[in-house]
Amino acid sequence: MSVMTLDESSRTNHSDGPWAVETHGLTKRFGDNVAVNDVELLVPRGCAFGYLGPNGAGKTTLIRVLLGLTRADAGTMSLLGYSVPRRRDQALARVGAIVDEPRFHGHLTGRQNLQILAAARERAARERIDASLERVGMAHRANDRVSKYSMGMRQRLGVAACLLGDPQLLILDEPMNGLDPAGMHEMRDMILSLVAEGRTVMLSSHLLDEVERTCDAVAIVDHGKVIRQGPIAELLAGAAMQVEVGCSSPERARSILADTPLGANIDVETSGLSIHLAAGTGRDAIAEINRRLVESGIEVYRLQEIQVSLESWFLEVTSRLGDTA
Ligand SMILES: Nc1ncnc2c1ncn2[C@@H]1O[C@H](COP(=O)(O)OP(=O)(O)OP(=O)(O)O)[C@@H](O)[C@H]1O
Ligand SMILES: [Mg+2]
Repeated sequence: MSVMTLDESSRTNHSDGPWAVETHGLTKRFGDNVAVNDVELLVPRGCAFGYLGPNGAGKTTLIRVLLGLTRADAGTMSLLGYSVPRRRDQALARVGAIVDEPRFHGHLTGRQNLQILAAARERAARERIDASLERVGMAHRANDRVSKYSMGMRQRLGVAACLLGDPQLLILDEPMNGLDPAGMHEMRDMILSLVAEGRTVMLSSHLLDEVERTCDAVAIVDHGKVIRQGPIAELLAGAAMQVEVGCSSPERARSILADTPLGANIDVETSGLSIHLAAGTGRDAIAEINRRLVESGIEVYRLQEIQVSLESWFLEVTSRLGDTA
């Protein structure tokens, strides 16, 4: 009977559920400093997910808690459907991670480092060494000592080390750190190709731009707290919108719109108006602007919706947070 129970619980606990990482109320304190503050995180499977926040926001600490490198003070978590710490071994068998920066023995070659790491894993890991080196473009430098590697090569060897376990989930702490623009580009392509293979990549970063380019979904963290999360496209859809209007008589155009709900935030420029629309304003507001101006005899030459970048949205969200603090 006890075997039945074990089987049963492993079947229900190893889930094909939607989340690669799931946390509820996860909290880690260092004295009075709450480095991870009541974090509710849902990382969907099969995507690149960015854990985005400024220095000291608690990104590395969250990753260390997830990997069991330090203990949570409160909350629950699961990786790939396995609740941890209870089923940590099963979870970590399918997780590859780089925390802080990858550490290797400098006097050994890249291949020898991977051999040592593979020896600590299941037998199949040894057979993945060549493919992993190939996969990250390091096969031609595999027999050089790691001490001769550039930062970018070390990062790539770090990813190769992750791949030894054929992970479903990769957790990478600041994978772009120390890389030049070309190195960042390579790392981004590598992350995207891992996701294309059906793996999940969760990365932490303080680089808004990189997260916007690399990730499908994001959690924005500040002072240990997740303040927004979701698919980037959905988050941006809820952001404020800006419309540039090229028109005749900008001053008169402004006064026409000032009497309407659209007129809350209008800057007059030499060749038209720049209008800030509140979050949640539909695109039909743009059509309404056009109709009102044209009906009042204003010539409209151009109407352009300005794409809100994650960066400006991030600043908007964090400054709002500052206002209420
Ligand atoms: N071992 C530790 N002992 C005490 N405080 C710690 C420890 N590790 C982290 N902290 C504190 O926890 C907070 C979060 O640190 P953490 O390293 O997780 O931030 P981070 O988001 O990874 O920052 P960075 O972008 O600089 O890597 C900081 O205030 C830090 O000083
Ligand atoms: Mg960190």
